Amino acid sequence: MEEQIKMIKQTSEKEIASAKELKALEDLRVKYLGKKGELTAVLRGMKDLTPEQRPVIGSLVNEVRDELEKQIREKEAKLKQELLNKKIESEKIDITLPSTKVRRGSLHPVTRIIEDMEDLFVSMGYDVVQGPELETDEFCFERLNLPKGHPARDMQDSFYITDEYLLRTQTSSVQARTMIANTEKTPIRMITCGKTYRREDDATHSHQFNQIEGLVVDKKERNVSLADLKGTLEVFVRKIIGANLDLRFRPSYFPFTEPSYEVDVTCFKCGGKGCNLCKQTGWIELLGAGMVHPNVLKMNGYNPDEFGGFAFGTGIDRLAMFRYGITDMRYLYTNDVRFLNQFDRKDEE
Ligand code: DAH
Repeated sequence: MEEQIKMIKQTSEKEIASAKELKALEDLRVKYLGKKGELTAVLRGMKDLTPEQRPVIGSLVNEVRDELEKQIREKEAKLKQELLNKKIESEKIDITLPSTKVRRGSLHPVTRIIEDMEDLFVSMGYDVVQGPELETDEFCFERLNLPKGHPARDMQDSFYITDEYLLRTQTSSVQARTMIANTEKTPIRMITCGKTYRREDDATHSHQFNQIEGLVVDKKERNVSLADLKGTLEVFVRKIIGANLDLRFRPSYFPFTEPSYEVDVTCFKCGGKGCNLCKQTGWIELLGAGMVHPNVLKMNGYNPDEFGGFAFGTGIDRLAMFRYGITDMRYLYTNDVRFLNQFDRKDEE
């Protein structure tokens, strides 16, 4: 019987050592140590032994069982560790792999013009101010020398909300608001940028667009003149649109300025030689400007005998088109990323 136990020990040890999977190991445990296992069978046969032999064999079986249990536990731990290692190996993250790129957006050309305009004018001592888009008839028209029934109102078809409130048709409303807020404090040097609305919609007009407005008011003795207006607009145009551009002042009419001008700029397409865009003139209309009308000063708290100044206003969309050579204004509003992606500041840095 001792021989038999030793045989069991030898073969089982070999099998345990060569077990490759947890399942196989479990099978071995059942095979040798289970209720119907080989070692248990030996114990059962002990009844046929002599009383002297029993404790000897009994303790031998126990010894062997303890030993096998220990080997199985150790083997099990080893197999589990191997399994874990394999798992870690297969799930390893390769940190050298390039990640999926986050696509960076770019600023809208109109936003870029606004930011550049604000930077430029702040550098010249101007304040950047804001006004409401939902405006009163009073600030949008009346205080700008456009009383009810004035024919020049026809040029700005408007969205009225009530008889008194409308969506502003021009940022010139902020001129009146700034003067009222300052009453005879000088100098006023402000620009304002923002959305404006008119009832029009075709290839070159949108019902919503962007304007920029500038206003300077100072004491008469400080002589704010047309020369200052011209110099300011020259800096503005050359910094914002193109360094080589020239300006041309044409007499015009706006109710809130006297004298008034329409200001043209060298055609960006042909450089002034004449082409179909500028109708062979070499010039393109860019903005409206003039010296602040005495009535406007008076209505907004500044005595025209003591104060004077200039104002200008233009469409930001136009500026963007001129700067970037965009020929169709609708590109600015259709949110096509193929178009918008072309205005990454990175390209210019
Ligand atoms: N507000 C005018 C428009 O929308 C543009 C304009 C003209 C603004 C002359 C001015 C100015 O400040 O002096 O057509």
